[in-house]
Formats: sequence, C-alpha cells, structure tokens
Amino acid sequence: MTAWPPPVSPAKIFPADQWQQIDGLVQQLDPAQTLWLSGYLAARAGVTESGANAPGTANTDLTIAYGSETGNCEQLARKLFEAVRQRGHAARLVDLATLKVRQLRKISTLWLITSTHGDGDPPLGAVDFHRDLHAADNIKLNAMHYAVLALGDSSYDHFCQTGIDFDERLAAMGATRLAARVDCDVDFEAAAQQWCDERLAALPPVAGNRAEEAVASATIPGAPAALHSKREPLCSEVLERLPLSAPARRRGNYHLTVALDEGSLALEPGDAVGVFAHNPAALVEAVLADTRLSADDPVEADRRSMTLAEALRGERDLAIPTRKFLQHWAQWSGAEVLRELADDARESREWLKRHHLLDILRSFPAKVPSAQHLVDALRPLQPRLYDVANHITADTDELDLLIKRFDYRVGDKEHPGIASYYLCDLAPGDPVRLYPHRNARFALPQRKEPVILVAYGTGLAPYRAYLQARAARGDDNPCWLVMGEQVYEQDFLYQLEWQDWLAGAKLTHLDPVFADDKPRRQLGSVFVEQADRLHRWLADNAVIYLCGEKSILDQCEQQIQYAYGEAAGLTPDDNATFWKALADEGRVRRNLY
Ligand SMILES: Cc1cc2nc3c(=O)[nH]c(=O)nc-3n(C[C@H](O)[C@H](O)[C@H](O)COP(=O)(O)OP(=O)(O)OC[C@H]3O[C@@H](n4cnc5c(N)ncnc54)[C@H](O)[C@@H]3O)c2cc1C
Ligand SMILES: Cc1cc2nc3c(=O)[nH]c(=O)nc-3n(C[C@H](O)[C@H](O)[C@H](O)COP(=O)(O)O)c2cc1C
Repeated sequence: MTAWPPPVSPAKIFPADQWQQIDGLVQQLDPAQTLWLSGYLAARAGVTESGANAPGTANTDLTIAYGSETGNCEQLARKLFEAVRQRGHAARLVDLATLKVRQLRKISTLWLITSTHGDGDPPLGAVDFHRDLHAADNIKLNAMHYAVLALGDSSYDHFCQTGIDFDERLAAMGATRLAARVDCDVDFEAAAQQWCDERLAALPPVAGNRAEEAVASATIPGAPAALHSKREPLCSEVLERLPLSAPARRRGNYHLTVALDEGSLALEPGDAVGVFAHNPAALVEAVLADTRLSADDPVEADRRSMTLAEALRGERDLAIPTRKFLQHWAQWSGAEVLRELADDARESREWLKRHHLLDILRSFPAKVPSAQHLVDALRPLQPRLYDVANHITADTDELDLLIKRFDYRVGDKEHPGIASYYLCDLAPGDPVRLYPHRNARFALPQRKEPVILVAYGTGLAPYRAYLQARAARGDDNPCWLVMGEQVYEQDFLYQLEWQDWLAGAKLTHLDPVFADDKPRRQLGSVFVEQADRLHRWLADNAVIYLCGEKSILDQCEQQIQYAYGEAAGLTPDDNATFWKALADEGRVRRNLY
C-alpha cells in the first residue's frame, strides 16, 4: 500500500510554485478522480510502486469484499476480481467471513458486495463482521474510499438492509463514498453489471502493457466444489405424497418424499433445500388472457429460448409486481396515475405491497409491445426454501419435506402461495428440481449440552431430522421438544414417531400444545408452567432452538424469557442482559419464516 503523505517531502522534488499548483489541483479532485490520476501518473512515469502489488500491476490497493449466503454476491465479486486482474491491477478478494474490522485500516479502496438474509440480517458468514463493525467505536477510516453494491429482494420488509448498514456505518467511521450505494432486487444482473462497469472504468490506467503478466500471476481463490447448487440443481422425482392433517383441514400439511442418488446432497439436520416451483396453470392463463399475448410466442429467459407459456410457468414471478414492472406498465397502458406512482420510490413500494400483479393487469389494460417485453419486465421466480425433514447420510436415497399450504392476503383478496401449493399438489412420479441450502445458523448440535427444541407447525421438520440423527448416533444429551399446532385430533404431525422416541429415551420431554383445543394455552405457556425445568436446563448450558412461523415463535421467545426471569428472580434489566449473553454465545438459534 502507498503511504500518504509520501515519505519524501515535496519540497525536495518540486519548486515551491509548482508544488502549490499541484496541491491546489489535487485538493479539487473527488476520490474517483484522485484514484484515476494516481494510476495515470504511474503509467506516464512507466514505473510501479513496490509493496503489495505484483510487478506490472497498478498500485490501486483495492480490496473486493463479499458477504454471500447463496452464492450470488460471491459470484459477482469473483467476476469483478477477475476483470480487475485482466486489466492488470492488483486486488484482493475477501470473504467478509474472514475479514477483521481492524484490517480495514490498511485498506484504501474497498468495493463491498453483500446480500441480506433472514429478516434483514447479514448473510451468515458476515454476521461477526457486521457486529464488530458496528461495535468498533474507536476505529477511524478517514483514509478509506469505498463503494457498496447491495443485493436483496424487495418483497422482504428490510430490503437490502445489510448493504444499507455497511454503507452507513463505513461513512460514519469516516470513510469516503466513491459512489452512491446501488440496491438490487432479485433481477440484479443488469444493475450489478453497471455498478461493476463503473468501478472498472474508474480504475487508473496501468503502467506499460503488462496486464497479461498480471493475469498469469493472478490466483483466484477456488470456489468450493459442490455436486448440486442453485445454478445446477438436482432434477429428481417425487416418490410419495402423504397428507398429514385431517381431510377437514383447508390448509393442510403434507409429507413429501423425493428420490435422491446416494451422496448427491450433503445436508445436516437444520439444513434446507431450495425448490424451483411452477406458477399454477390458471395464473399463467390469466396473465396470457389479460395481456392478449400468445402462449407459443418465442422468448428468451435467462439466456434460454422457450415459449412465453414456459417462461410464465417456471421462470417469472406472476404474483409480485416490482417498481420496474410498474414503470413499464405505466408506459404500455398510458395510465397517468401509474406513471406518477412509479416515479416515487417510497409511494410505489407501499402501493405495490397492496396489489397483486393481476390487479394491475386488470385495472389498467395495456398493449404490451411483445412477449419478450413482458418477460423482461417481470421479476424472476425465486426458489423457496424447505427444511429437510430426515437425516441424510451418504447412503440415504430419499429426502423428506414437511410442507403446509400457505395462503396470503394482498388487499382484500386471498391468494394461494406459489411453491407450497405446487409442492402439495405434486404426485408420485412428478419431476422436481431442488438444491442444497446449508443453514449453519440453525445447525443442530452434535454435542453434550441439553437442547430445547421449540416448533410451530412445519417448524418440526428439522427436529425430525435431528431425532433421526440422534438415534443413529446414539446421542444421549437431554432433549425437550415443545411443539404447537391447531387441533390434537387433526394436526398431531408425526405423532407416533415422537412417541416412539420418547419411549426409547431419545426424547426426554414432549410437550404438545394445540391452540384450538385450549385457546388460552400458548406455545410459551409450557415454559411458564415449567419455569423451574427451564431454569435448570439453562443452568446446564442448554441451547434453545426456535423454528416455524415467525409471529408465533417471536411471542413464544418473549414468554420463555419472562418465565426464566421469574424463576431466576432477575430484574427485567438483568434478565435482558442474561438473554443477550445467551444469544452472543449462540445458545438461542432461530429459523423463522
Ligand atoms: C429457512 C427456511 C425454511 C423453511 N422451511 C419450511 C418448511 O419446512 N415447510 C414449509 O411449509 N415452509 C417452509 N418455509 C417457508 C417456505 O419457504 C415458503 O415461504 C412458504 O411455503 C410460502 O411459499 P409460497 O411460495 O407458497 O408462498 P408465496 O407465493 O411466496 O407467498 C408468500 C409471501 O409472498 C409475498 N407476496 C406474494 N405475492 C405478493 C404480492 N402480490 N404483493 C406483496 N407480497 C406478495 C407475501 O409476503 C406472502 O406472504 C421455510 C422458509 C425458510 C426461509
Ligand atoms: C431465507 C432468505 C431470507 C432473505 N431475506 C432478505 C431480507 O430480509 N431482505 C432482502 O432484501 N433480501 C432478502 N433475501 C434475498 C437475498 O438477499 C437475495 O436472494 C440475494 O440475491 C442473495 O444473495 P447471496 O446469494 O449472495 O446470498 C433473502 C433470501 C433468503 C433465501
């Protein structure tokens, strides 16, 4: 890295009036111009700085850092890193999982690419860095220039929150923005490419023509090799579909078994799979009818040729409209009200939350220029995650999932969830595409401490995998399962299996709670009733797992904390401190959706 100010006094090199002119000019430059000029001057001089850089590379002291959970940001960062090296520049590529906050002081240019996960949380590997960055009150980054590219999904409440956090925190620590942050939605490719192109364009020219050498000497850290991934999913078939709830239940739970080639998915209890679903035929037909386009029109989606009907079925989201879609639809329909809405980022965001795509198609009839225009305006259909419900070993040739039909309201209409209905309606022999999604945040333990497992509904899935693993391994650490559903006679999911494990001492305690049978007894009531046990188990280093519907589990967690505070005789402040310490130790783990 170049030290600044330079070690030699300018007075020894420049006459005073010349230095005054140079200094005056430099003071007026913005960070991108300064960076460019430094390379330009190095190139003019035909020399490179010695230090961290390879010979023949410009001394930009550039670090490209990424925070990524499902690989999108990592892939973008790797491509950008390669492009930088192709241009003959030295750079470092760093996963935020390995970057320490104090190391930032040595970085003069940081390009940071990050996604957001959970409920506005950093990607798993970036959790520590994010926490430490926000706690680092004594570190100043006045010498750093940075730019942030944020990936997210605008259907989440905390859109691109981690990118926002990093951007704001680096500025607060004194670093200088090279460019305004760019927040990308699920169709991130074009915006991300533009951000990368702008970063590359601001790189200074390289001294001499030694770029090829730099490329030859560049070592790009290898990506972990995986048999299947989001980009190369496993194409398998359904073996079995069993309704688990009583037929009377409108939104029932289903047990789905999918065929696996042995060893094709490496998954631990607590991990999930991502499933590529299809939109229902009726929704595809409705969109075709409302746009008056032909199902057979040829289109390209994600660089593959197909018919419009195929693209609408498997590639594009037909439920969630985005602001980009609104902008296109305003143009095609000529509706002034849509144009005004689309111009206002905040207002359109709120409005879109209350409208289904079909509401727009029907309320504002439009002439869509072509099938391809429609495909390009819609956001890509996203895979959905489902927790693995069985213990997968190298010999396992089946994957179990526990799925509930999910309905949701937009405005005053109820809609069926795309992926949950798709999966619950699959029949044996139907094809299904999926990929492994590691969820280390929720890794179930292979250790001796007691575990308290709390689930509502489908939140039971990973615990079934865990109990199978415990039985196979012979684990004997205490295990307490508290599970919630609606009605005992209709919804006791996998009842016989839990009872067998209880009889075989793989489960120490089982507390089912059925909300409709005893409306005043909630999931958290178990802990209020058994506060002494909770207190004892936590004193023995128990780890608490919470899985399933977020609103119910959040409330349950509050009741757990309250019950503990009462049993331990803690003041509310001391109780809050206790729970914060527990969370910091990784002893409260959540998988909420
Ligand atoms: C780690 C993880 C594990 C999971 N494990 C399981 C499991 O084991 N079993 C299980 O059943 N589920 C599980 N889920 C939930 C699952 O991934 C799906 O979220 C759930 O099945 C609903 O998906 P869907 O496609 O049916 O609904 P969607 O079609 O995705 O609809 C759901 C949501 O999309 C949004 N939405 C849709 N349309 C609009 C619109 N027009 N405007 C605004 N918002 C809109 C709404 O917020 C709505 O609530 C898990 C989730 C995660 C993150
Ligand atoms: C379980 C899950 C939770 C997510 N939560 C959010 C969120 O809270 N806010 C957001 O903007 N995006 C959210 N996303 C979207 C991701 O940020 C987006 O898919 C991104 O492209 C992933 O990049 P990565 O593969 O580098 O992790 C979530 C995605 C998943 C799978």
